[in-house]
Amino acid sequence: MILTVEEGEIDMISKSGIRVVAVSDYEELSREAARRIIAAVRQHPASVLGLATGSTPEGTYRELVRDHREKGTSYQQVTTFNLDEYVGLAANDPHSYHAYMEQHLFRHLDIPRGQTHLPDGTAEEPEVECRRYEEMIREAGGIDLQVLGIGVNGHIGFNEPGTPFSSETQVVQLAESTRQANQIHFEDPEQVPTHAITMGMATILRSRGILLLASGAKKAPVIQRLLTEAEITPDLPASILRSHEDVTLIADQEALSLVGTDLD
Ligand code: PGA
Repeated sequence: MILTVEEGEIDMISKSGIRVVAVSDYEELSREAARRIIAAVRQHPASVLGLATGSTPEGTYRELVRDHREKGTSYQQVTTFNLDEYVGLAANDPHSYHAYMEQHLFRHLDIPRGQTHLPDGTAEEPEVECRRYEEMIREAGGIDLQVLGIGVNGHIGFNEPGTPFSSETQVVQLAESTRQANQIHFEDPEQVPTHAITMGMATILRSRGILLLASGAKKAPVIQRLLTEAEITPDLPASILRSHEDVTLIADQEALSLVGTDLD
């Protein structure tokens, strides 16, 4: 294990090859993730960002909005591609990821809406929509920095265990554990859609840099598996991130509680 101390934080390169930034809690995770995204945008104002939804990045987006207001970081030239969208939910459905992004980020920034992209969950021909989305990412020159959460089952995007690493943007059926985890965002558990359109594993892996975020004790078992299990396997989709050359995991103490600081 290589251990360096940077700006008061402990950075480790775990044996898995994933760079780990250990932070104390969710607030610090949010600030640290935002700091890195802001640095990327300031360095390359025309950055292509891959964005995630879910509970984890909410604080990060809050920090981006605060920085935009207070320090004026501009997103006028930035292009974004979200990881996924539920099948069947229109952009104006409050449970859609379109609505989430609008509420938590886009409406607060100066990013032109035409430069923000999510898959269309109501596309009449979802397979065509998947190919269109993949093509748009390619035409934008690929993703510079992809923000990722991780599911309790190791999914990234909505690529559930068993998804081939070669997959491109596709329609997927959600795992029961995923539907359960996402129930908190719906009034009625039955409302949680059964399918989604998600960037594929190969799509995600083509990103030049990846920022993986994990917070809370619920994520501790999957983070332990990610950092300490030897095998790269579709059974743990996130394990493929070990083969990517630029992945930074920002994780809080609770998420790292089963790993400790001894990542060897
Ligand atoms: P969460 O979701 O941020 O709501 O925990 C992460 C994920 O499922 O990828």
